[in-house]
Amino acid sequence: MAPKPHLAEALAAARERTDELFGLLVPDAMYDRPIPERHRNIFYLGHLEAFDWNLICRRGMDQPSFHPEFDKLFEFGIDPPIGRLPEDKPSDWPAVAEVHRYNQRVREGIDRALISGGAPEQYWHVAIEHRLMHAETFAYMLHNLDPNRKLAPAGSEPVLAGAPATPTSIEVPAGIAVLGKRRGNGFGWDNEFEEHCARIPAFAMDKYKVTNGQYLEFVKRGASAPFFWVRRGGEWFQRTMFGAVPLPLEWPVYVTQEEATAFALWSGKALPTEAQFHRAMDRSPNGGGNYDFRSWDPVPVTAGAEKGFAQLRGNGWEWTSTVFEPFSGFEPFPFYPGYSANFFDGQHYVLKGASARTAACFLRPSFRNWFRPNYPYVYAGFRCVENRA
Ligand code: AVJ
Repeated sequence: MAPKPHLAEALAAARERTDELFGLLVPDAMYDRPIPERHRNIFYLGHLEAFDWNLICRRGMDQPSFHPEFDKLFEFGIDPPIGRLPEDKPSDWPAVAEVHRYNQRVREGIDRALISGGAPEQYWHVAIEHRLMHAETFAYMLHNLDPNRKLAPAGSEPVLAGAPATPTSIEVPAGIAVLGKRRGNGFGWDNEFEEHCARIPAFAMDKYKVTNGQYLEFVKRGASAPFFWVRRGGEWFQRTMFGAVPLPLEWPVYVTQEEATAFALWSGKALPTEAQFHRAMDRSPNGGGNYDFRSWDPVPVTAGAEKGFAQLRGNGWEWTSTVFEPFSGFEPFPFYPGYSANFFDGQHYVLKGASARTAACFLRPSFRNWFRPNYPYVYAGFRCVENRA
C-alpha cells in the first residue's frame, strides 16, 4: 500500500486539536473527573493514542504490542445511565509521564505506518474522525472544570451581542427526505448506511434555534433551569468555557432532550424527527459559520443570517425525537463492532447539526450523533415543529 499524505495531514491537524485541549489543563487537573459519569481526564490522554495503536498497528498491521496493559486500560470509554457513577480513585491510574511515554511510542509507530502505507484507508478515517469526536466531547468535559483548573487561550472571549431573533416558522411541504449514505461514496461510520428515502408529510419548523430568552419564560413558569445556567445574586448567568456571563438571551439554549421535549409540548409543538431535520437541511444550504472549532461558546441564533432555516449546521447540535436505531442494511464495522451497535438500546436519541466545537468533516448530512435523553453536558439545543398533516 502507498503512503497517504492527505491522511498524514488530517491526522496531524486532529492531533493539534486534541493536544491543544490537554494543554489547557493545569498540571494536576489530569486526575480530575469533570463529568461524574465519565472517566478522569487521564483516561482520555491515553485513550486517543491507544485507540490509534489498537486499530492501525495491531488490528490493521498485526504488529506486536509494546505495552499490552495500557492498550487495554485505555481501550474504551464509559456511558453509564445518569447517576450511576464510577468509583475509581486517582491512584488507580498511571503517572502522567508514563502515559506521555506510551503516547510518544504510539505516535512513532503510527507515523511509520503512515509512511509505509499500512492498514486500510478506512481505518485511518476511523482513527482521525474518532480523535476529532473526542476533540468535541473532551471540550464538554473541560467546560465543567473549575476555571482555575484550566488556562484560557487568547481570543476565547464569548460573542454576546446579536440581532434579536423574531420567532418565525417556515413551512415545509410534503416531500421526500433522503437519509443515510450511499456505499462507495467516501467515508461514513457504520450507522450512516444505507441511503434511503422517506415520505414526509407537510410541517412547519422554527427558523431559529430556541433561545435562552424563550426558555427563560418556561423556567419562570416552573421548569427547572438548564444545566449550563447558574444563578448568582438573583440573576441568571451562563457558564461559558472559561467563566460565566449574564445569560445571553439571544444564544441558543443548551438543554437535554427531555427538557427540549417538555418545552416543545408546552408550546403546543413537537421536536423534529431526524427525517424532518433532513427536509429542512435540503432547503438551507449554509450553516451560519459557528463550527469547526471557530469559538468556545455559542453565538446569537441570528449570527450569519441566512435564507431558509438558520444555523442547521453549527452553533449547537439539535435534539430530535428519533431514537438512535440502525438504518435498514446496517452492518457494524468488523474492526469496531460496538461503535454504534452498543447504543441501539432505545436509551439514546439522534442529534443532528453541529456545535462550535464540531470538526467540519461531521457536517456531511448523513452524520448522526447520539446521547441519552437526560445527558446534560452536550452543546445541544433544539427547535420545534408543527405537524400539518
Ligand atoms: C458519537 C459522540 C456519541 O462520545 O460517545 C468516541 C463518539 N465513541 N469514542 C461518544 C465516540 C467512542 C460517541 N458519540
